[in-house]
Amino acid sequence: MSERWTPKTWRNLPIQQVPEYPDAAALAAVETQLASFPPLVFAGEARKLKASLASVSEGKAFLLQGGDCAESFDEHSADNIRDFFRVFLQMALVLTFAGSSPVVKVGRIAGQFAKPRSSPTETMDGVSLPSYRGDIVNGIGFSEEARVPDPRRQLEAYRQSAATLNLLRAFATGGYANLDNAQRWMLGFVKDSPQSSRYADVAERMSDALDFMRAIGISPDTHQEVRATEFYTSHEALLLGYEQALTRVDSTTGDWYATSGHMLWVGDRTRQADHAHIEYARGIKNPLGLKCGPSMTGEGLVRLIDLLNPENEAGRLTLICRFGADKVGDHLPNLVRAVERAGRKVVWACDPMHGNTIAAGRYKTRPFERVMTEIEAFFDIHRAEGTIAGGLHLEMTGKDVTECTGGARALTADDLQDRYHTYCDPRLNAEQALEVAFLTAELVKRDRGQIERPRLDAAE
Ligand code: PEP
Ligand code: CO
Repeated sequence: MSERWTPKTWRNLPIQQVPEYPDAAALAAVETQLASFPPLVFAGEARKLKASLASVSEGKAFLLQGGDCAESFDEHSADNIRDFFRVFLQMALVLTFAGSSPVVKVGRIAGQFAKPRSSPTETMDGVSLPSYRGDIVNGIGFSEEARVPDPRRQLEAYRQSAATLNLLRAFATGGYANLDNAQRWMLGFVKDSPQSSRYADVAERMSDALDFMRAIGISPDTHQEVRATEFYTSHEALLLGYEQALTRVDSTTGDWYATSGHMLWVGDRTRQADHAHIEYARGIKNPLGLKCGPSMTGEGLVRLIDLLNPENEAGRLTLICRFGADKVGDHLPNLVRAVERAGRKVVWACDPMHGNTIAAGRYKTRPFERVMTEIEAFFDIHRAEGTIAGGLHLEMTGKDVTECTGGARALTADDLQDRYHTYCDPRLNAEQALEVAFLTAELVKRDRGQIERPRLDAAE
């Protein structure tokens, strides 16, 4: 690994998961154009997120990270963004209120386009074609033509990210996220949802709390914490040419920041210590995520932590653990112990999606029970080790899709065909996502040492 880092030193190293662009000159022209475009996010925002993640690492806040497995060009609409944001706010409210913990909100959105694949080709009815690598690279259609990587897609991904981010910023600060609207976030939510009455109850309790606060002079007009929310964006740092073009020097500090999103993570397939993706990530000052799957060893992890967070800065690095419900018990305790022994500051987050994918006929699915089992094991292990279960990383949507089985409505494998819309991995639908939030809130509350309040009748 080269000592001196620049946004392009990754180009000298071996790299995994690179698309084969047929026209190198066209690719270079697009990268030059992207490099001239305005940043999507600012360094100061990334620093603020890092500070919030530092509180997560100390158990003073909880990280909620989630969104599509892969955003798509065709499904880019205000409705989709609003529906996602609405359920995300509901989940955050449940975790804040029922879990009694502030929530750091990070979407897998406004840049989550590039996908790593387990195989470079995909075969259907005896025909093999290059795999779909996300809308930023090629098309999902199963044809020779669609699968050719096209660099112009990077310009479209940038445009879509900018538009999405613009709407999210408006939602977060322009009134939609005002806590006074918490009851309204329910409107338009799936009718007769098993979660609706539970959520209505939380929203009502919060509304009472807001009335009380208003009576003592704290209202949306006077306090922006009630009026607005902080919402951050994140995606996998996979397509490094795109990332490099949007990596800029922050004029206040002189440091390099990725400006394609607030937080970037390195995927489980591209985290080789001496390869390109880790090289790129180590030089940017944004908060980083690192996916940890079953092949991660304690020693390998500490080596990666040293590369990505040499100054042991709290909030810099989030370890996103994705082992699977049946494997988490075999792997997580070792990693936790290795990190503790080395005295490294990290945020531990649980991705209960990527280790729990199974085949159901012609669909990939994730059983809700397995998702919850992995989350519970994650909390139990941290409790046993005396470390902090810091957050959740979910693939979810605000829509009523049928991609994961189970949940309160007990979706079956036969239901999957009804509304299976994902461009990549199966996502929790809005109801299932909210259910995860309710069940996780219980675990957060259990482990965050609720202060026993003296009971009035006991004091009498
Ligand atoms: C993802 O988050 O969509 C993903 C591909 O995850 P992982 O790198 O953990 O497999
Ligand atoms: Co995925």
